[in-house]
Amino acid sequence: MAGVDVSILITCPRCGTRYSVAKNKIPPRVRSFRCKACSTSFPWEGKEEPGREPRRLAISLSKAGVGKTTTAVNLAAGLALAGFSVLLVDADPAGRAAASLGVARPEGGLFGLVAGELSPEQVLVEARERLWLLPGGHSLSGLRRIIAGQGRAGEATLAQTLAGVEGRFDYVLVDTSPDWDALTIGILAYVRELIIPVSLEVMSVQGFGEFLQLLEARGRYGKELRLKYIVPTFYDPRIRKSVDIYEKFRNVYGELVCAPIACDGELAENQGLGKTVFDLDRESRGRQDYEALVRKVAGLPPLPPSGEAG
Ligand SMILES: Nc1ncnc2c1ncn2[C@@H]1O[C@H](COP(=O)(O)OP(=O)(O)OP(=O)(O)O)[C@@H](O)[C@H]1O
Ligand SMILES: [Mg+2]
Repeated sequence: MAGVDVSILITCPRCGTRYSVAKNKIPPRVRSFRCKACSTSFPWEGKEEPGREPRRLAISLSKAGVGKTTTAVNLAAGLALAGFSVLLVDADPAGRAAASLGVARPEGGLFGLVAGELSPEQVLVEARERLWLLPGGHSLSGLRRIIAGQGRAGEATLAQTLAGVEGRFDYVLVDTSPDWDALTIGILAYVRELIIPVSLEVMSVQGFGEFLQLLEARGRYGKELRLKYIVPTFYDPRIRKSVDIYEKFRNVYGELVCAPIACDGELAENQGLGKTVFDLDRESRGRQDYEALVRKVAGLPPLPPSGEAG
């Protein structure tokens, strides 16, 4: 089509930087590219890459200790094991995702990327096969202040930065801090789907209601951002309150409510050692519960009840 500027998308397989190249500027025999960001040369088959958008999900609730990081890390690890390419973004100044995966956290992380001081290959850490971590940490307190000072422009910069690295991934999962602040609000402006972990106790349920009100006040909730999964955590079938709260959630929110994640000391202990539930025995409670969540999120069929497998 003469006169139409046709661009094609080329993604560096090493660092994920995406290039939009005018098709008529590529000489006919070119079969490789060199990435300007990481200097890697890679082959190109001459085919157009379909524009790919990852699913973007935040694991969020403005209440501490409900299992946000635990859910983000295990969901990310499970999706990667299922064959998806996953980016886990740690948007919490506490920065515990790296330790939960047993990897060292380089300085800079998300802050360095947004500030334009570091490139994707300097900040992304390969934590497991197909699972990449964009670490958080103390520097995010500075980022929080910058975004707060810039308002919507700051939110847009954050979204653009993440959009610049998301191209090679099937999923971008973002673990947020328990604070309702400019950084969390910026992340909620970037993602399209929301996962809310709720620990099955009264205070957490109150926090859930308040969080929905905060989202509604921002005017985006239900439009660009949809609540997709409520993940009941710290479930203990021996405790009446735990069972009652779970059932009430099921009655009100129906299919949005996922199968509960049991309270599991082995999970917590191993998280402290940098192991996800998928590094544990197949029979471990936490592993089975998070495997069910991975299947629900990815739309994979549920596992048959134990004893029928194989
Ligand atoms: N299902 C579970 N069973 C037992 N312990 C758990 C479970 N889920 C999380 N924990 C433990 O509870 C603590 C809090 O979990 P986590 O850090 O995931 O919560 P969080 O919502 O991210 O907290 P914060 O708001 O402080 O970031 C951690 O020590 C974690 O190991
Ligand atoms: Mg956390």
